Amino acid sequence: MSNNASATSVPDGFTLGAATAAYQIEGAATEGGRGPSIWDTFSHTPGATADGATGDVAAGHFHHVATDLDIMSSLHLDVYRFSISWSRVIPDGEGAINSEGLAFYSELVDGLLRRGIKPVITLNHWDLPQTLEDKYGGWRGRETAYAFERYAEIMGKALGDRVAIWSTHNEPWNNSFAGYGHGVFAPGVKNHEDALKAAHHLNLAHGLGVQALRRTITKPDAKISIVLNIFRVEPETPEDAEAARLFDTVANQVFTGPVLDGAYPTDLKAYTAAFTDWHFIQEGDEDTCHQPIDLLGVNYYEIMHIRRRPDYDPAREAMGGTEFPGSERVELFRPEGFERTAMGWTVEPRGLEDHLVALSKKWPDLPIMVMENGAAFNDVVTEIDGHPAIIDEDRTQFLSDHLAATLRARDRGANVDGYLVWSLLDNFEWAAGYGPRFGIVRVDYDTLQRTPKSSAQWFSEVCRTRTIPALGAQKVKA
Ligand code: FCB
Repeated sequence: MSNNASATSVPDGFTLGAATAAYQIEGAATEGGRGPSIWDTFSHTPGATADGATGDVAAGHFHHVATDLDIMSSLHLDVYRFSISWSRVIPDGEGAINSEGLAFYSELVDGLLRRGIKPVITLNHWDLPQTLEDKYGGWRGRETAYAFERYAEIMGKALGDRVAIWSTHNEPWNNSFAGYGHGVFAPGVKNHEDALKAAHHLNLAHGLGVQALRRTITKPDAKISIVLNIFRVEPETPEDAEAARLFDTVANQVFTGPVLDGAYPTDLKAYTAAFTDWHFIQEGDEDTCHQPIDLLGVNYYEIMHIRRRPDYDPAREAMGGTEFPGSERVELFRPEGFERTAMGWTVEPRGLEDHLVALSKKWPDLPIMVMENGAAFNDVVTEIDGHPAIIDEDRTQFLSDHLAATLRARDRGANVDGYLVWSLLDNFEWAAGYGPRFGIVRVDYDTLQRTPKSSAQWFSEVCRTRTIPALGAQKVKA
């Protein structure tokens, strides 16, 4: 598919890095004064996650932070993207500050800076303090957006002199639709109106959060962003265009509308009329959501191939528990002929390239950073000279192809200036638990020992030499 026959150089100023999220790596769930989050509650609910996996220990990052910093240093990363556990800093989400929690992140930031790595922070990577869920219905409640504003202000004051890039949310789509509509993520609610309320309050919180960060951060060149998994939507045939439009509206424009364009698209209200009248939007909210930002974070894993469903049954949909409003009309499918990751996701770097070009056509003035891209594969641990070794050629190929696709998009005019690997470490993959391994560094979950995989060695070379080396023959079919 892609052509890596010769080495490609990474342009000056283009940012390379790796990403993680607090609940997926930290562990130490009840240590250091941390309060519970909705992911603690959800993961401890029988049947909610694969094999009953929880983030209680995860990758043990909280206790292995020094080792992890040294690994990052050996990878020559420009930036490290991580998220703050809100309930580690403010245990009940809106009350007293836990100084021990704040100190943990402040030391992490200093540790990065000492090693020449720029910190990139996500404020909300889904692990909402449980108290806010109990008191306000979590993101269903407007109060949660105000609590987020205060949290952003506290973080801006504490770290705003040192952090390079701030993101308000990570993938509000999963946070709201998977968490409150489909119910497969925390807090496990299955109700489409609740998902839409959550989406709106996340948009509102984003706007309030951007304002709070602007008030408090002092580093002059710091950037403020939001990370969206804007989907690359491709209809199978021209007859499927309406289904693709529905999905694009419900999954993408529900966020990009208010946040980037200043209003919800009118079609969204029509597509969701069976579930809500959107009474929870108040006068002025769309203006609040629409704050100028410096950077758009985009996460990309695969193309959303779409076709219409002939057997639409509104009665079934009204019962809730479907993936998203309209999912009875719209089928997401995975075409044959592509390599698949261990998640079953199709490997299509071409989608990333075309996506970035199209996004920049739509928002030409907004620089984009690929904040997550990566793949789970079934890693095999071998031994070399008595040490564990993981030769993950499939992951290396995946990353190489997607980084190359990102740079090709840039050559085609996309305003994209960074690419971050998901993930630095193997970690808790949400409802899928510890089965899927996305890390370029292996974590042995019994000993918490870290072993850089061959993909980490490859990425270290890319970052050090600022060149993507030519890899061997392509395995990708299509
Ligand atoms: C994204 C999430 C990230 C990780 C990857 C595989 O949707 O943002 O936390 O789980 O998927």
